[in-house]
Amino acid sequence: MGLRTIYFITRNPHKVKEIRELAVDIGKGKGVSIQHLNYEYPELQLEEIEEVAIASANHIRRERGLEIKAPFFIEDSGLFIHALNGFPGPFSAFVFKKIGNEGILSLMAGKNGEERRAVFKTVIAFCQSASAEPRIFRGVVEGRIADSARGEGGFGFDPIFEYRGTTFAEMSTEEKNKISHRGRAFRELLNHLS
Ligand code: IMP
Repeated sequence: MGLRTIYFITRNPHKVKEIRELAVDIGKGKGVSIQHLNYEYPELQLEEIEEVAIASANHIRRERGLEIKAPFFIEDSGLFIHALNGFPGPFSAFVFKKIGNEGILSLMAGKNGEERRAVFKTVIAFCQSASAEPRIFRGVVEGRIADSARGEGGFGFDPIFEYRGTTFAEMSTEEKNKISHRGRAFRELLNHLS
């Protein structure tokens, strides 16, 4: 039986790498082949990452619907830090660009133990076709903000996001995928597809 093609639309090569590995590890077994489309779309600044993901998918349906001949998905992720009331959350990309990991570590100065708890979330918005409303799949991972940046792998906040003593940047893509917000959201999508 041939594999069903699903498009992953993003301009972030790190996300492509992670999803590609997951697609090979578990997607094939479920009869799905993930192809990357490098389309740009505006990311609205909204209060919830669910709303951002839905707005992005709807934008693509409107602007690119005629070109995309297969189901597709986009994803939006955010880092939510408890001691900062969930900041930067939906503003993660902007905050990362402006102050980076060092900026987050400065905001966390003097915060200890439970105060350093943080959650990474991914929302996938999947459209069966350009005429179908997006469906949402979520993945969450609980961790903490490390005391200092560690590790060379990954991207974005990975060097300061610690899961059970290891930062995401200290993990291989395979290790990160097993427990990450993105890995979990993608598995939810695959379960729905099969
Ligand atoms: P977005 O999903 O591209 O909007 O990501 C928001 C921000 O979070 C960007 O600055 C990303 O670099 C960062 N980010 C998203 N996913 C991850 C991840 O898996 N690890 C570390 N940083 C991430």
